[in-house]
Amino acid sequence: MREWGVVKFPNPHSLLPTPHSPLRKMAITTQQLIQWKQQGRSIVALTAWDYTIAQLLDAAGVDLILVGDSMAVVLGYETTLPITLDEMIYHAKSVRRGVKRALVVVDLPFLTYQESLQQAMHSAGRVLKETGAQAVKLEGGYPAIAETIARLVQAGIPVMGHVGLTPQSVHQLGLRQQGKTQEAGERILQEAIALEQAGVFSLVLEHIPADLAMQITQKLSIPTIGIGAGTHCDGQVLVTSDVLGLAEKHPPFAKVYTNLRETITKAVQDYAVEVRDRKFP
Ligand code: KIV
Repeated sequence: MREWGVVKFPNPHSLLPTPHSPLRKMAITTQQLIQWKQQGRSIVALTAWDYTIAQLLDAAGVDLILVGDSMAVVLGYETTLPITLDEMIYHAKSVRRGVKRALVVVDLPFLTYQESLQQAMHSAGRVLKETGAQAVKLEGGYPAIAETIARLVQAGIPVMGHVGLTPQSVHQLGLRQQGKTQEAGERILQEAIALEQAGVFSLVLEHIPADLAMQITQKLSIPTIGIGAGTHCDGQVLVTSDVLGLAEKHPPFAKVYTNLRETITKAVQDYAVEVRDRKFP
């Protein structure tokens, strides 16, 4: 019988720090994140879209894995608007299978929660029941969204908020930094306070000035997770396809830690040459 080759990389879960490290401990909860804010321990978050990526991130010690609707870009969409709830659920199930420790949060996509409370409850309920993720994320901080979030939380659904640049509103806001004027900053601060009162366990602050993010972070007792919002947030999130250099373009605030586009292209070209030269197999 043919023996399958095993790729000679370390088992991702063996990359976790020593057995006594805090990273070895049990699955992370929303309460844990709130405690970490109190203790001043910074929260590490990244996005994932499938089992393999999720397994690698989890094993590397990422605390929160977001199945973000930014995955739309990995699927070849121009914006986050076209991605459907079924697509999010399909990918979130795959991510969830790869995760042992991180808290898994799933974005509710555009127009799957804004129409009515019933619609939001149905969408969030499907995500929790069908994927095994622990929480959902909704964009926006205007009064109707805060009300919806309060009702989801009352129903036992953990919710993460998201204010500042909200990519589902790209056709209204563009992808510009938000909260630049005194008035706009005050509005975002008020939204953040309303979302905390509605019961979100954490809040994403996207592409806002660092001093505004610091003000919000100091005001709230729940952790803020920044993306393009400076260093004073309680944690940071980035889109993994940007971090890994897989995306064709990335926002100015993203940091690209490696260039997988180059690595993959080179590997595929080497393979193609060997096949054509009959050097492989
Ligand atoms: O969809 C996403 O990846 C996000 C992050 C940018 C926070 O919402």
